[in-house]
Amino acid sequence: MELRPSDTALVTGASRGMGVLIARALAERGVNLALLARSADALEDVARTLRDETGVRVSTFAADLADTAALPEVWARVEAEVGSVDILVNNAGLEGAQHFPEASVEDLARMVAVNLTAPMILTRLVVPGMIERGRGHVVNIASIAGLLPSAYEEPYNASKFGLVGFTRSLRLSAEDDGWGVGASAVCPGFMADTGMYDDMTREFGVRASRLMPQSPAAAIGPAVISAIERNRAEVIVMKGAPRAVVALAAATPRTFERISARFDLAGVFRSVARARRIG
Ligand SMILES: NC(=O)c1ccc[n+]([C@@H]2O[C@H](COP(=O)([O-])OP(=O)(O)OC[C@H]3O[C@@H](n4cnc5c(N)ncnc54)[C@H](OP(=O)(O)O)[C@@H]3O)[C@@H](O)[C@H]2O)c1
Repeated sequence: MELRPSDTALVTGASRGMGVLIARALAERGVNLALLARSADALEDVARTLRDETGVRVSTFAADLADTAALPEVWARVEAEVGSVDILVNNAGLEGAQHFPEASVEDLARMVAVNLTAPMILTRLVVPGMIERGRGHVVNIASIAGLLPSAYEEPYNASKFGLVGFTRSLRLSAEDDGWGVGASAVCPGFMADTGMYDDMTREFGVRASRLMPQSPAAAIGPAVISAIERNRAEVIVMKGAPRAVVALAAATPRTFERISARFDLAGVFRSVARARRIG
């Protein structure tokens, strides 16, 4: 879809991390913004900066995506304030590296609610308007963890594989039923400079394996813009040859497990899970 300065994007998880970079990339193209996260003050700071620097209209919505039953009411607030939404970026997400047998039932439910159920519900709420107008795009920020498994990441892998599967199905329905709406899964690898992996490196001193090299977080904005403009199915934001590894893992999961052991792909999350166990 061609971006227009009159477009409006709803971006979740825009109070910090990569959501801010995504919001900025859209604002720099003249797109008006509705920003959503729990932290009202941080959202307002981001909104003020983007208004001052780009001149677009920016509204903020403080909401907890884990409260999925409240999402229709949240959407009603967004629609009442900004009108129709042309672009939905489901970016908010939680990470949760830990020893699975020790995860609480609440941890598992919360991860799936924020990373998978909320994006599906928001899409369900936003897409009818897009179909009516015959124009719109949904970007789901999944992860390389939505295409490749990792030890110590069961609920995160489950939620991100789910988000990739949801996006693939949505694209097929949009095409088959003639909606005129695009959808993309954007799958970052380890992103440096800001965001949850950057937090992990500073808190736990971990380093990504050379098979999964880290990428600059600045790559996320252009990846999202290109996903929208070219209606790309899946964009992997990662250096190296991730597509080859993903293809191998899909074709022969056992071979991928051997490669994972050889390059110690579990290393980052093993260290974090152990540190969290010790507390
Ligand atoms: N950073 C990476 O290396 C990396 C790699 C692969 C995929 N990803 C994915 O990229 C997306 C953004 O990650 P990030 O690294 O920027 O993470 P981050 O720095 O931890 O930021 C997460 C954002 O999501 C919001 N959020 C979290 N829980 C929420 C909830 N219950 N309700 C509403 N908002 C919530 C946070 O805002 P509040 O706390 O204010 O609510 C924040 O704005 C995520 O989906 C993540 O899985 C990141």
